[in-house]
Amino acid sequence: MSALIKFRDVCKTYYMGDAVVRAADHITMKIEKGEFVAIVGQSGSGKSTCMNIIGCLDVPTSGTYLLNGQDVGAMDKDELAAIRNKMLGFIFQQYNLLPKLTLLENVEVPLMYAGVPKSERHERAKLALELVGLGDKVRNKPNQLSGGQQQRASIARALVGEPAVILADEPTGALDSHTSREVLNMLQMLHEAGNTVVLITHDNSIAVQAQRIIRLEDGRVVYDGDAHAPEAVVRPTLAGNGGGQ
Ligand SMILES: Nc1ncnc2c1ncn2[C@@H]1O[C@H](COP(=O)(O)OP(=O)(O)OP(=O)(O)O)[C@@H](O)[C@H]1O
Ligand SMILES: [Mg+2]
Repeated sequence: MSALIKFRDVCKTYYMGDAVVRAADHITMKIEKGEFVAIVGQSGSGKSTCMNIIGCLDVPTSGTYLLNGQDVGAMDKDELAAIRNKMLGFIFQQYNLLPKLTLLENVEVPLMYAGVPKSERHERAKLALELVGLGDKVRNKPNQLSGGQQQRASIARALVGEPAVILADEPTGALDSHTSREVLNMLQMLHEAGNTVVLITHDNSIAVQAQRIIRLEDGRVVYDGDAHAPEAVVRPTLAGNGGGQ
């Protein structure tokens, strides 16, 4: 059986005048169904570039990306939107909830795009909010909730369509450490329930919550393996990027 996510020699190249930036530089990797993987690296290492490609928000300049065996690089805008809606659930650092809608309506949005009828939408959104402990807040607007609660609502929105992959981009970036732990526990729970979870972070202490780490540097994979192996965590060096504070 082929992997759920498969990158073969994926490059993303930007041309800035004479300068060439290889935001992704021949990345080859695969992620199997049911894995919990963290993609980690310093600022500018290519994490968002990878996330955008995995999430079908962007396509590689060269190389191939197969999602569930389908060649995403060959898709047009409409096909990308369709596969995105069907296959992916997104969790963002800033939650990205719609401020005028209630939590229930927010969580219904992906189901609306998927053409799920209204009563079923309601029922499923309610169950998803109950699952993240917000069953008593379905009628609230996002600004009536704490940051942690908003992020839990966005987790409900990510999982309500039963996507093949849950993609979380710095999901705890705006949260304090206690609330971060709650959100990470929730990702762990989703993983244990059989979901495939891809977590993007610059923070090693968050990355080790996953089973496996893919570490990027300058658009290249410099480590891919067990999150708990000693080599998974880079030690700061004297020349170290960002090691000076
Ligand atoms: N649209 C663009 N045009 C030109 N260069 C870009 C563009 N997007 C990203 N880059 C460059 O590609 C490289 C990788 O960027 P990317 O956003 O993937 O990094 P990142 O790991 O997500 O960083 P951060 O942790 O700061 O979010 C960087 O050098 C960045 O400047
Ligand atoms: Mg980024």
